[in-house]
Amino acid sequence: MAVVGTKSFERTLLRLHAEAEADLPPPILHTHPLARVASASPHLHLSWSQLHPSLHPQWLAKSENIRDARVRPAQHERTALRAERKARQVESLASLVAMLTAGRGAHIVDFAGGTGPLALPLAALLPWCVVTIVDVKRQSLALAETRAKQAGLQNVRLWLGDIKDFDQPFSVGMALHACGEATDLAMDVCIAASARFVLCPCCVGKLSRSASDPYKPNGTDSRVSYPRSAAVASCVSSEEYDALACAGDFADSEQVSGRRGALRRLCKAWLEHDRMLYAVERGYDCRVCRMHVEDASPKNHILFGWPRGQPPAEAVVSAMGHERADPTLASTTQLHQCVACDAEALAGVAGKAQSVLCGTGLLGTALATSEWSQTELDEMHSRLRRFKESAGAEGDHLVVSSSSSRQRRLVHWVAEFEGLLHRTEGKRNVVVKRP
Ligand SMILES: C[S@@+](CC[C@H](N)C(=O)[O-])C[C@H]1O[C@@H](n2cnc3c(N)ncnc32)[C@H](O)[C@@H]1O
Repeated sequence: MAVVGTKSFERTLLRLHAEAEADLPPPILHTHPLARVASASPHLHLSWSQLHPSLHPQWLAKSENIRDARVRPAQHERTALRAERKARQVESLASLVAMLTAGRGAHIVDFAGGTGPLALPLAALLPWCVVTIVDVKRQSLALAETRAKQAGLQNVRLWLGDIKDFDQPFSVGMALHACGEATDLAMDVCIAASARFVLCPCCVGKLSRSASDPYKPNGTDSRVSYPRSAAVASCVSSEEYDALACAGDFADSEQVSGRRGALRRLCKAWLEHDRMLYAVERGYDCRVCRMHVEDASPKNHILFGWPRGQPPAEAVVSAMGHERADPTLASTTQLHQCVACDAEALAGVAGKAQSVLCGTGLLGTALATSEWSQTELDEMHSRLRRFKESAGAEGDHLVVSSSSSRQRRLVHWVAEFEGLLHRTEGKRNVVVKRP
């Protein structure tokens, strides 16, 4: 039975969760190694104070502000905060890359590396390696070059062009917030080169086929097909994937709070899990962790991996192999619990079990009710119940008008719950009848 009132991404999440209880491996989160080995391995930490100032994201932020005379103090503050967050992001990725880089002269490639926020400090941290920055923006690479020169770095190379065309041999690939499909292009290039990788994806909304992306040829033509893994593709269509991608795209912390935010985070967790399964299907050992400082970015998932037959040293595998509880996945359980209470209360009045409303159980109810506030639900329930119990005094049908599709879906959802008949009429009306 279809879940009344739910959106496409919610139905898709339901299916994924049902599959995860059957055949599909469920998402697993690993602990960022910095949380465990930090004190034992100080060399994994970037000591910014010992690096040249031009390598710190603050240098870039200041130089941007100096160039733009219109910048106000509040904007200065925002830029400075953003630069501090970028520094935390860089620390999280650089430590993983350092752990996966073995041997002198290793070639590390920073895909979509921009002005070098990750590549340059890493080149300073590992002066015995060569670090190449790949980007399509000439201007960004020019700025990266200036910064590298100022810092006296000898081991930085620049490569102008599209990620998918990069064809030099290398041993570790990395990407920090490579937009949309750029993360997947980078993963493909790493897999083709049998290289290890550390990838922190960015805006997943751009993965949707309908979303425009300046880096896609013709704006929307994707060069990557989604879902990525055969495992997820076996139960999620491209259209459903699009819905997950749109819902899993968020840029600030407000969008990830509350019940609705929990669902968005859940979508993002499944999108990254799909990428992880894709690498596993191609002979990789791949794991997902979050940035060491999770507040550094709402887009804080990191995928890291290596060809299964060429693992790093045992100590490294072990330091990277600690599973942890994923608060996002745990929030699904909370959703179960909090909505179970709502559902019991509502079912008590309506005399109807929620399993009738939703073939997939409590999570379905949780997903559907996450859309509306308790007040909205209570008001609609009391309105429809009044109609139901009026036994004809209010006429044989009730027309509820609303210009918002969200409100109309609420009417459908509550009417179903109350055991009333309901249908859409015209563009704005929902007609409700007693059975
Ligand atoms: C959000 S910025 C991230 C830059 C940098 N990694 C950072 O963390 O600040 C994304 C970068 O990806 C680059 N980019 C996007 N698609 C690309 C592609 N297909 N090939 C090369 N560069 C790409 C853009 O030019 C841009 O510099």
